[in-house]
Amino acid sequence: MAVKFPIFMDAQSTTPVDPRVLAAMLPYFTERFGHPASRTHPYGWDAERAVERAREQIARLIGARDPREIVFTSGGTESINLALKGVADAYRDRGDHIVTTVIEQRAGLDVARRLERQGLRVTYVPVGPDGLVDPAAIRAALTDRTILLSVMFANNEIGTIQAIAALGRLAKDRGILFHTDATQAVGKIPVDVEAMGVDLLSATAHLVYGPKGVGTLYVRGKDPRVRLQPLIDGGGHERGLRAGTIPVPLAVGFGLAAELCGQAMAEEGLRLARLRNRLQELILSAVEDAQLNGHPEHRLPHGLNLSFAHVEGESVLLGLNREAALASGSACTSATLEPSYVVAALGASAERAHSSVRFSLHRFTTEEEVEHVGRRTVEVVRRLREMSPLCEPARKPPG
Ligand SMILES: Cc1ncc(COP(=O)(O)O)c(C=O)c1O
Repeated sequence: MAVKFPIFMDAQSTTPVDPRVLAAMLPYFTERFGHPASRTHPYGWDAERAVERAREQIARLIGARDPREIVFTSGGTESINLALKGVADAYRDRGDHIVTTVIEQRAGLDVARRLERQGLRVTYVPVGPDGLVDPAAIRAALTDRTILLSVMFANNEIGTIQAIAALGRLAKDRGILFHTDATQAVGKIPVDVEAMGVDLLSATAHLVYGPKGVGTLYVRGKDPRVRLQPLIDGGGHERGLRAGTIPVPLAVGFGLAAELCGQAMAEEGLRLARLRNRLQELILSAVEDAQLNGHPEHRLPHGLNLSFAHVEGESVLLGLNREAALASGSACTSATLEPSYVVAALGASAERAHSSVRFSLHRFTTEEEVEHVGRRTVEVVRRLREMSPLCEPARKPPG
């Protein structure tokens, strides 16, 4: 099959909508346009059935006991906001301390900082050189005033997967609620809120081949029943936790996307891990001074994060941008190029944090695409090094 350019290898930022998901959504934009809260006619009943089915599909994917534990939101960011702010408000009588990690996605970190400005205390637990958080360090951070532990399931830059079940047990032993931002993990690797002791879980449709603009917060209903202060007041939708009309087509899309991920996960994970390993081997066998960021095993099957000594990640992306859509850990904000705070948190040098490149594969990635991106990455890194003054000492023979 001919390769179509630019090759999309940025599937940890978003995923293409699966055509089956799109087809399932379309009727809910046209003839099946009812409001799911309209109780007086078949248009409403039809929409309500569709939304409830989606709730069941999502509940099944994450091992929730009861579909009513699935609260629809606008996406991962809102879910994280609702989880952290909602718990902080509802449990103020119990404590004022939250424990999280230094590598949470921006939403988690920004909400934590806002809560700090409002008087809560937050402990940001560091990670090891492989991106794993040590459960013993989490345990040491918990106090009698801790109300919430929030640790991301899999990191969006380096893909490192945390020991979620161990953290769930820890939180349960101490009677502390446990939230996980599972936005990158759901649909890709097994997630089971019951087996893993998760009380709150954030996820988003656009990372599971569903539409943008819809997500979920799983809110445990029993053992314990989690209380949350809503962010949005209104018509009492979603058991009073998230007011506003549910976007039915998006919820339907999310539901089917979740079901398809559940069906495909085992096989898809193996296929993508094989392709990812091939990409890694292609690059690392040909480029010296390249380093894997994150844990070599405990990582998402479809992601690869590499740092190339003496070249900036952004330059690699620019060198490849006609052919491949990739991401660097660095965020280009106005004139300053910020290094990846996640790679920096691994104890890496500023240079390594500046030089990271993230490749992420997806359901429609082909072998040809992997071969092309691997080959071209090697060429671009070599060319950049030839041009780079930073590279001089490295290229000159000793003496
Ligand atoms: C780990 C993580 N958390 C949260 C989010 C935010 O989700 P959304 O884009 O649905 O707001 C993302 C988005 O990519 C993510 O990767």
